[in-house]
Amino acid sequence: MSDVVIHFAGVSKNFAAKGGITEAVRDVNLPIARNEFVCVVGPSGCGKTTLLQLCAGLARPTAGRVVYKGREITGINTDAGYITQESNLYPWRSLIENVEFSLEMRGMAKAERRREAQQFIDLMGLAGFEEHYPYQLSGGMQKRASIARTMVYDPDVVLMDEPFGALDAQTRMILQAELLKVWSLKAKTILFITHDIVEAIALADRVVLMTRRPGTIKDVFRVDLPRPRNVFEIHGQPGFAEMYRRIWEHFKVEMKVE
Ligand SMILES: Nc1ncnc2c1ncn2[C@@H]1O[C@H](COP(=O)(O)OP(=O)(O)OP(=O)(O)O)[C@@H](O)[C@H]1O
Ligand SMILES: [Mg+2]
Repeated sequence: MSDVVIHFAGVSKNFAAKGGITEAVRDVNLPIARNEFVCVVGPSGCGKTTLLQLCAGLARPTAGRVVYKGREITGINTDAGYITQESNLYPWRSLIENVEFSLEMRGMAKAERRREAQQFIDLMGLAGFEEHYPYQLSGGMQKRASIARTMVYDPDVVLMDEPFGALDAQTRMILQAELLKVWSLKAKTILFITHDIVEAIALADRVVLMTRRPGTIKDVFRVDLPRPRNVFEIHGQPGFAEMYRRIWEHFKVEMKVE
């Protein structure tokens, strides 16, 4: 199947630490198609970040394989953009220098990379802070800066680990809308982790629900809400409430909520 860009095939991952072995994920099977937007939801500690790390080639599966564009991942996967759960900006570089870093690595001329970087800084609402260093930015701004830093080099596959988690609700919706715009214009494949069922429904083609640790796939929900979607009014969309209820019915069992 050449249209499958990311394929978790029977993937399990155990971590050895001082206290013993943690079984993080167990037997995950998930093919993700080109240009698909897939959201993964699940309780804290169920192995969501672990799945992204496996896909980024930063960890190896204990069993099974992660296949990326037809090849098993055996080293660091630099092809996919990876927006980590913690912002990891370079503290010694200003905001704009952080955003243009990958363009610099590619040898792009200074004026051109400044222009490109500025475009994404504006898009992320960071204009005016170009010369600030990461410690001079708020948590939400750092988050937006790491998104700009990844999107600027236009990877066709993007792994996003709760990228909007630390933001206020309004900023979050604005960035969701921007992300959907970028996704539809630039034909990207996105694997997006979130705690938020509303966010998952607003963004995804499919929502993957994981169980408590060891994380396995409990269910996969196809979201048929029409596109383009209005994330600001997603609650009122016909079909939204039913979708939310279906996912929450399963999710709450994993959260031990009655
Ligand atoms: N490098 C590591 N060494 C040891 N254990 C680890 C390591 N990375 C993750 N784990 C363990 O694997 C489990 C899954 O962690 P993971 O970070 O994937 O969860 P998560 O679903 O992303 O959680 P959250 O929603 O809180 O971000 C946890 O129990 C964690 O302690
Ligand atoms: Mg995580």
